[in-house]
Amino acid sequence: KSILIINGPNLNLLGKREPDIYGNRSFVDYLKSIEPLFPDVQLRYFQSNHEGELLDKIHELGFDIHGIVINAGAYTHTSIALADALSAVTAPAVEVHISNVHARESFRHHSYLSAKCKGVIAGLGLTGYELAIRYLLTL
Ligand code: DQA
Repeated sequence: KSILIINGPNLNLLGKREPDIYGNRSFVDYLKSIEPLFPDVQLRYFQSNHEGELLDKIHELGFDIHGIVINAGAYTHTSIALADALSAVTAPAVEVHISNVHARESFRHHSYLSAKCKGVIAGLGLTGYELAIRYLLTL
């Protein structure tokens, strides 16, 4: 089974970016640490700061892979195009946010993606990604 993990804008800075909110671990370091938990799963990771590149990756893999874990960063709150891409493909998706977006500014409370996802995990730090993968593997 393959799972696609997609991180959107500014998430390449995890570990350096606002560590009080997002922690001090890089995503690649975190990913390496969870890979052994899923020995039979191919975890495919893609990060981009460009909305179109995120769309292209969803189109490229979204008909073939088992599931998608997506943290679209700020595009969560702005991108109808990403929502449409998740609707277009066949792979089920889970939306993840590292921080508890509902405890933050009101512009972070709305997500265009949530309605297109099986569910949403927010506020559980990087652990949210692992939980999302575990859920997708039950499908
Ligand atoms: C985020 C929350 C978003 O509001 C923000 O724009 C991000 C990260 C999170 O993981 O908590 O870039 O998606």
